Amino acid sequence: MRIGIDMGTTRTIAAGADRGNYPVLHFLDPDGDAHEHFPSLIALDGEELVHGFEAERAARAGAPHLRSFKRLLGDPGTHPGTTVELGGREFALLDLMTAYLTAVREALPVPPGQVAVSVPAHAHSVQRVMTLEAFRRADIDVIAMLNEPSAAGFEYTHHQSRSLTARRTRIAVYDLGGGTFDSSLVEADGAGHSVLGSRGENRLGGDDFDLALAELVLERAGLTEADLGEQGATLLLEECRAAKERLTPQTRRMMIDLGDDHDPVVLPVENFNTAVTPLVERTLEVMAPLVGDLDADSGIAGIYLVGGGSGLPLVGRMLRERFGRRVHRSPHPAASTAIGLAIAADPEADATLTDRLSRGIGVFREARAGEAVAFDQVLTPDAPLPKSGTTTVTRTYTAAHNLGWFRFVEHSALDEGGEPRGDLVPYADVLFPFDPALRGLDEAALAEVPVERREGGPQIEEIYSVDASGVVRVRITDLTSGYSREYGLARRG
Ligand SMILES: Nc1ncnc2c1ncn2[C@@H]1O[C@H](COP(=O)(O)OP(=O)(O)OP(=O)(O)O)[C@@H](O)[C@H]1O
Ligand SMILES: [Mg+2]
Repeated sequence: MRIGIDMGTTRTIAAGADRGNYPVLHFLDPDGDAHEHFPSLIALDGEELVHGFEAERAARAGAPHLRSFKRLLGDPGTHPGTTVELGGREFALLDLMTAYLTAVREALPVPPGQVAVSVPAHAHSVQRVMTLEAFRRADIDVIAMLNEPSAAGFEYTHHQSRSLTARRTRIAVYDLGGGTFDSSLVEADGAGHSVLGSRGENRLGGDDFDLALAELVLERAGLTEADLGEQGATLLLEECRAAKERLTPQTRRMMIDLGDDHDPVVLPVENFNTAVTPLVERTLEVMAPLVGDLDADSGIAGIYLVGGGSGLPLVGRMLRERFGRRVHRSPHPAASTAIGLAIAADPEADATLTDRLSRGIGVFREARAGEAVAFDQVLTPDAPLPKSGTTTVTRTYTAAHNLGWFRFVEHSALDEGGEPRGDLVPYADVLFPFDPALRGLDEAALAEVPVERREGGPQIEEIYSVDASGVVRVRITDLTSGYSREYGLARRG
């Protein structure tokens, strides 16, 4: 089955493509109960890493654990060698993610076929390439990587296309997740979707609402976090999250359990709403430049609320106060991105990833001896296609490794810093043996060779050619010996 996997800050959600339907897939917990998510949590249970529901259970019992590792991935300083401390041990972040995604794959009710995955709209190159790499190492065949709000845009056009008209072809996606707030203006043009602009806040999400509630509860109980101890504080946050998620527009009071040593706290919902109103106001402020006044000229059909955090009654209410009836809540707020990804992974879907020829092509290369990843744009999104024949671009350099491992991607836009923005489509990897001793090996054998730095490598020339139909090829030549190979750059799968 082709599926979409949305690795969220708090929850990982998957949806499948099943003959025009995109059901949310169920994960089983150790008791055999089905859930529409797999917790984004890693714990160290003794010597063993455990994930998801098992990690939740271990964390409750006091095991060291790592929440919100996706936030770490988004930190500007993160690189492929970044390590994380967990229970007094150092782990490579990439290894943790690989182990986590392996657990996700094993917990899926069906073996994943080709998969579409997502990253926040503001993810930088390293976050994108490390995400791709972790999925690949977890033995998951990724055929597309979309920005989260673009995927939600797919889900919107699939379920609500009636609200799009000839004059109103745009929707503003409002995605309040567990750890991040993202908003994007998406243009839906028949089958093609493009993101006109994005605004987001990396550190604003449902977690902050839980913290605000926990503070109110402690205040009311006359306790401090220290009174509860570390484990008690973890439990309090879980209780707060559960109480928040139980809220309906009719709820008057919230009850939060503080364990056996303290009385439960009862709190009017109004107090909670007052405390978190500034958080919702902040999301409105962040999104404001994208949507303006939502007047008739904006071409905006509506605001689409997705992300688990938008399930909070206050969020819907405040957005309606501001924008009126053009606010639509996704029928599956927490699963919208995953459903959109399943649609993107489905070749039969009517809303497919734009196959425009005007996308840019670039390659991720290791830099600074494997400490960093550099993105090298080979062809810009606005590169004109030739009427006939081919246009070429040439690069030359001295090889610094035994093996050239080229991770080509197609992308829709670059930011001012030259980093790819917009949806990424990974291409099949290209392997070129710089070391003459490796040239007898076939592709599968080459893929097993560890990449090592080498001094005094050969002079290399890469010639990229684009033909009239937008097909891109690269010829890589060892100028020192004349050895040369040509590769078609193609999407995976
Ligand atoms: N019914 C609900 N009411 C209020 N909040 C909810 C509800 N259901 C889930 N949430 C909150 O939504 C958040 C998780 O949302 P979601 O699953 O969209 O985030 P994520 O994808 O894990 O994170 P991100 O997109 O930021 O990486 C959590 O804070 C959770 O408590
Ligand atoms: Mg999300």
